[in-house]
Amino acid sequence: MIENNVPNHIAIIMDGNGRWAKKRTFPRLFGHRQGVKRVKDVCNLCMEFSIRYLTLYAFSTENWKRPAEEVNGLMNLFREFLQKEAQNLINKGIRLVVSGRYHEFDDDLVNRIERLKEESKDNNKLVLNVALNYGSRKELVDAARAIVKKGYKAEEIDESIISEHLYEPDVPDPDLIIRTSGEQRLSNFLLWQAAYSELYFTEKFWPEFDRNVLIEALNEYKDRKRKFGGL
Ligand code: IPE
Ligand code: IPE
Ligand code: MG
Repeated sequence: MIENNVPNHIAIIMDGNGRWAKKRTFPRLFGHRQGVKRVKDVCNLCMEFSIRYLTLYAFSTENWKRPAEEVNGLMNLFREFLQKEAQNLINKGIRLVVSGRYHEFDDDLVNRIERLKEESKDNNKLVLNVALNYGSRKELVDAARAIVKKGYKAEEIDESIISEHLYEPDVPDPDLIIRTSGEQRLSNFLLWQAAYSELYFTEKFWPEFDRNVLIEALNEYKDRKRKFGGL
Protein backbone atom coordinates (compact mmCIF):
# COMPACT_ATOMS: atom_id res chain seq x y z
CA MET A 1 0.00 0.00 0.00
CA ILE A 2 2.37 2.74 1.16
CA GLU A 3 5.64 0.86 0.88
CA ASN A 4 7.28 3.29 -1.46
CA ASN A 5 7.85 7.00 -1.27
CA VAL A 6 7.20 7.25 2.45
CA PRO A 7 8.28 10.61 3.91
CA ASN A 8 11.38 10.46 6.09
CA HIS A 9 10.07 13.24 8.31
CA ILE A 10 6.46 14.19 9.04
CA ALA A 11 5.60 17.31 11.04
CA ILE A 12 2.11 17.78 12.43
CA ILE A 13 0.31 20.92 13.59
CA MET A 14 -2.01 19.26 16.09
CA ASP A 15 -4.91 21.72 15.87
CA GLY A 16 -8.59 21.64 16.80
CA ASN A 17 -8.64 20.22 20.33
CA GLY A 18 -10.78 23.12 21.57
CA ARG A 19 -13.32 22.94 18.75
CA TRP A 20 -13.55 19.17 19.05
CA ALA A 21 -14.47 19.60 22.73
CA LYS A 22 -16.85 22.50 22.11
CA LYS A 23 -18.83 20.50 19.56
CA ARG A 24 -19.47 17.99 22.33
CA THR A 25 -20.09 20.69 24.96
CA PHE A 26 -17.00 19.59 26.89
CA PRO A 27 -14.45 22.01 28.35
CA ARG A 28 -11.50 22.83 26.06
CA LEU A 29 -9.11 21.01 28.37
CA PHE A 30 -10.97 17.78 27.79
CA GLY A 31 -10.16 18.22 24.11
CA HIS A 32 -6.49 18.67 24.95
CA ARG A 33 -6.60 15.52 27.07
CA GLN A 34 -8.05 13.56 24.14
CA GLY A 35 -5.43 15.14 21.90
CA VAL A 36 -2.56 13.94 24.07
CA LYS A 37 -3.87 10.38 23.69
CA ARG A 38 -3.38 10.56 19.93
CA VAL A 39 0.36 11.15 20.36
CA LYS A 40 1.04 7.54 21.27
CA ASP A 41 -1.01 6.30 18.30
CA VAL A 42 0.76 8.52 15.79
CA CYS A 43 4.18 7.41 17.10
CA ASN A 44 3.18 3.77 16.66
CA LEU A 45 1.87 4.44 13.15
CA CYS A 46 5.07 6.20 12.15
CA MET A 47 7.15 3.24 13.33
CA GLU A 48 4.86 0.86 11.48
CA PHE A 49 5.30 2.84 8.24
CA SER A 50 9.08 3.31 8.73
CA ILE A 51 8.87 7.08 9.10
CA ARG A 52 12.05 8.06 10.93
CA TYR A 53 11.25 11.54 12.21
CA LEU A 54 8.04 12.92 13.65
CA THR A 55 7.73 16.53 14.77
CA LEU A 56 4.66 17.51 16.80
CA TYR A 57 3.68 21.13 17.44
CA ALA A 58 2.46 21.02 21.02
CA PHE A 59 2.76 24.60 22.33
CA SER A 60 3.62 27.75 20.44
CA THR A 61 5.32 30.90 21.73
CA GLU A 62 1.97 32.61 21.00
CA ASN A 63 -0.09 30.13 23.03
CA TRP A 64 0.85 32.02 26.25
CA LYS A 65 -1.86 34.50 25.15
CA ARG A 66 -4.53 32.00 26.19
CA PRO A 67 -6.25 32.20 29.59
CA ALA A 68 -4.00 31.09 32.48
CA GLU A 69 -6.35 28.23 33.26
CA GLU A 70 -5.84 26.70 29.82
CA VAL A 71 -2.07 27.28 29.84
CA ASN A 72 -1.76 25.66 33.28
CA GLY A 73 -3.95 22.79 32.16
CA LEU A 74 -1.69 22.20 29.17
CA MET A 75 1.42 22.25 31.38
CA ASN A 76 -0.20 19.66 33.65
CA LEU A 77 -0.99 17.49 30.65
CA PHE A 78 2.62 17.67 29.44
CA ARG A 79 3.80 16.69 32.93
CA GLU A 80 1.31 13.82 33.10
CA PHE A 81 2.36 12.61 29.65
CA LEU A 82 6.03 12.56 30.68
CA GLN A 83 5.19 10.74 33.92
CA LYS A 84 3.06 8.09 32.26
CA GLU A 85 4.75 7.60 28.92
CA ALA A 86 8.49 8.14 29.47
CA GLN A 87 9.30 4.48 30.09
CA ASN A 88 7.05 3.35 27.29
CA LEU A 89 8.78 5.66 24.78
CA ILE A 90 12.19 4.41 25.87
CA ASN A 91 11.11 0.75 25.60
CA LYS A 92 9.76 1.30 22.11
CA GLY A 93 13.06 2.68 20.84
CA ILE A 94 11.88 6.27 20.50
CA ARG A 95 14.31 9.12 20.97
CA LEU A 96 12.87 12.36 22.35
CA VAL A 97 14.23 15.70 21.22
CA VAL A 98 12.61 19.07 21.89
CA SER A 99 12.51 22.24 19.81
CA GLY A 100 11.68 25.53 21.46
CA ARG A 101 12.36 27.68 24.49
CA TYR A 102 11.17 24.94 26.84
CA HIS A 103 13.62 26.13 29.51
CA GLU A 104 11.04 28.84 30.26
CA PHE A 105 8.70 26.15 31.66
CA ASP A 106 8.77 25.36 35.39
CA ASP A 107 11.78 23.49 36.79
CA ASP A 108 9.97 20.22 37.36
CA LEU A 109 8.83 20.07 33.73
CA VAL A 110 12.25 21.09 32.43
CA ASN A 111 13.92 18.36 34.54
CA ARG A 112 11.52 15.71 33.28
CA ILE A 113 12.16 16.75 29.69
CA GLU A 114 15.94 16.76 30.17
CA ARG A 115 15.84 13.35 31.83
CA LEU A 116 13.82 11.73 29.05
CA LYS A 117 16.02 13.34 26.38
CA GLU A 118 19.07 11.89 28.10
CA GLU A 119 17.59 8.45 28.77
CA SER A 120 16.35 8.03 25.20
CA LYS A 121 19.36 9.47 23.40
CA ASP A 122 20.65 6.13 22.06
CA ASN A 123 17.29 5.10 20.61
CA ASN A 124 16.90 5.16 16.86
CA LYS A 125 13.60 3.62 15.76
CA LEU A 126 11.86 6.99 15.68
CA VAL A 127 13.01 10.48 16.55
CA LEU A 128 10.11 12.29 18.21
CA ASN A 129 10.74 16.03 18.07
CA VAL A 130 8.23 17.89 20.23
CA ALA A 131 7.89 21.60 19.51
CA LEU A 132 7.35 23.08 22.97
CA ASN A 133 7.22 26.82 23.53
CA TYR A 134 8.24 26.86 19.89
CA GLY A 135 8.04 29.75 17.47
CA SER A 136 9.88 29.78 14.20
CA ARG A 137 10.70 33.48 14.41
CA LYS A 138 12.15 33.05 17.90
CA GLU A 139 14.11 30.05 16.64
CA LEU A 140 15.70 32.27 14.00
CA VAL A 141 16.38 34.99 16.60
CA ASP A 142 18.02 32.38 18.86
CA ALA A 143 20.07 31.07 15.94
CA ALA A 144 21.24 34.60 15.04
CA ARG A 145 22.25 35.25 18.66
CA ALA A 146 24.20 31.97 18.85
CA ILE A 147 26.00 32.75 15.59
CA VAL A 148 26.96 36.26 16.76
CA LYS A 149 28.15 34.90 20.14
CA LYS A 150 30.47 32.51 18.34
CA GLY A 151 32.02 35.43 16.51
CA TYR A 152 31.24 34.46 12.91
CA LYS A 153 32.11 37.03 10.27
CA ALA A 154 29.32 38.22 7.97
CA GLU A 155 30.89 36.58 4.89
CA GLU A 156 31.10 33.23 6.70
CA ILE A 157 27.34 33.02 7.29
CA ASP A 158 25.51 30.89 4.78
CA GLU A 159 22.42 28.67 4.79
CA SER A 160 24.21 25.73 6.37
CA ILE A 161 25.53 27.89 9.25
CA ILE A 162 21.97 29.04 9.97
CA SER A 163 20.59 25.48 9.75
CA GLU A 164 23.29 24.27 12.15
CA HIS A 165 22.18 26.78 14.77
CA LEU A 166 18.48 25.91 14.79
CA TYR A 167 17.15 24.08 17.87
CA GLU A 168 17.56 20.51 16.55
CA PRO A 169 20.03 20.70 13.68
CA ASP A 170 20.21 16.92 13.30
CA VAL A 171 16.52 16.68 12.46
CA PRO A 172 16.18 16.97 8.67
CA ASP A 173 13.65 19.30 7.04
CA PRO A 174 10.12 17.89 7.07
CA ASP A 175 9.01 16.20 3.86
CA LEU A 176 5.36 16.46 4.77
CA ILE A 177 3.56 18.91 7.07
CA ILE A 178 0.05 17.94 8.15
CA ARG A 179 -2.36 20.36 9.81
CA THR A 180 -5.62 19.14 11.30
CA SER A 181 -8.90 21.04 11.89
CA GLY A 182 -9.26 22.72 8.51
CA GLU A 183 -7.01 25.72 9.15
CA GLN A 184 -4.61 26.34 6.28
CA ARG A 185 -1.67 28.23 7.75
CA LEU A 186 1.67 27.50 9.39
CA SER A 187 1.19 29.58 12.58
CA ASN A 188 4.91 30.24 13.06
CA PHE A 189 5.88 26.56 12.63
CA LEU A 190 9.16 25.55 10.93
CA LEU A 191 9.19 28.53 8.56
CA TRP A 192 12.83 27.94 7.58
CA GLN A 193 12.61 24.15 7.44
CA ALA A 194 9.33 24.13 5.47
CA ALA A 195 10.87 25.78 2.40
CA TYR A 196 10.16 22.70 0.23
CA SER A 197 7.82 20.67 2.43
CA GLU A 198 4.63 19.25 1.00
CA LEU A 199 1.55 20.52 2.87
CA TYR A 200 -1.53 18.46 3.69
CA PHE A 201 -4.65 19.81 5.36
CA THR A 202 -7.45 17.73 6.82
CA GLU A 203 -10.81 18.84 8.24
CA LYS A 204 -10.46 16.27 11.04
CA PHE A 205 -9.77 17.71 14.49
CA TRP A 206 -6.60 16.47 16.20
CA PRO A 207 -8.47 14.25 18.73
CA GLU A 208 -9.96 12.45 15.69
CA PHE A 209 -6.61 11.79 14.04
CA ASP A 210 -6.25 8.10 13.27
CA ARG A 211 -4.75 5.54 10.94
CA ASN A 212 -7.09 6.46 8.09
CA VAL A 213 -6.21 10.14 8.20
CA LEU A 214 -2.51 9.33 8.13
CA ILE A 215 -2.93 6.86 5.28
CA GLU A 216 -4.85 9.48 3.26
CA ALA A 217 -2.04 11.97 3.81
CA LEU A 218 0.63 9.41 2.88
CA ASN A 219 -1.26 8.39 -0.23
CA GLU A 220 -1.53 11.96 -1.37
CA TYR A 221 2.14 12.59 -0.58
CA LYS A 222 3.16 9.52 -2.57
CA ASP A 223 1.78 11.07 -5.77
CA ARG A 224 3.17 14.57 -5.25
CA LYS A 225 6.00 15.54 -7.55
CA ARG A 226 8.67 17.36 -5.59
CA LYS A 227 10.85 19.58 -7.73
CA PHE A 228 12.92 21.73 -5.34
CA GLY A 229 13.06 24.41 -7.99
CA GLY A 230 14.34 22.07 -10.69
CA LEU A 231 12.52 20.52 -13.61
C1 IPE B 1 -4.38 22.75 19.37
O1 IPE B 1 -5.74 22.86 19.61
C2 IPE B 1 -3.59 22.56 20.64
C3 IPE B 1 -2.79 23.72 21.06
C4 IPE B 1 -2.66 24.83 20.39
C5 IPE B 1 -2.13 23.63 22.34
P1 IPE B 1 -6.40 24.26 19.90
O2 IPE B 1 -6.42 24.49 21.37
O3 IPE B 1 -5.77 25.33 19.10
O4 IPE B 1 -7.88 24.01 19.39
P2 IPE B 1 -8.80 25.04 18.61
O5 IPE B 1 -8.01 25.52 17.43
O6 IPE B 1 -9.13 26.15 19.56
O7 IPE B 1 -9.99 24.24 18.22
C1 IPE C 1 -0.84 26.21 16.37
O1 IPE C 1 -2.19 26.20 16.65
C2 IPE C 1 -0.06 25.81 17.58
C3 IPE C 1 -0.17 24.40 17.98
C4 IPE C 1 -0.85 23.48 17.36
C5 IPE C 1 0.57 24.06 19.18
P1 IPE C 1 -2.96 27.50 17.11
O2 IPE C 1 -4.37 27.09 17.33
O3 IPE C 1 -2.27 28.14 18.25
O4 IPE C 1 -2.80 28.46 15.85
P2 IPE C 1 -3.71 29.68 15.35
O5 IPE C 1 -3.81 30.62 16.50
O6 IPE C 1 -5.04 29.11 14.98
O7 IPE C 1 -3.00 30.21 14.16
MG1 MG D 1 -6.09 26.13 17.30
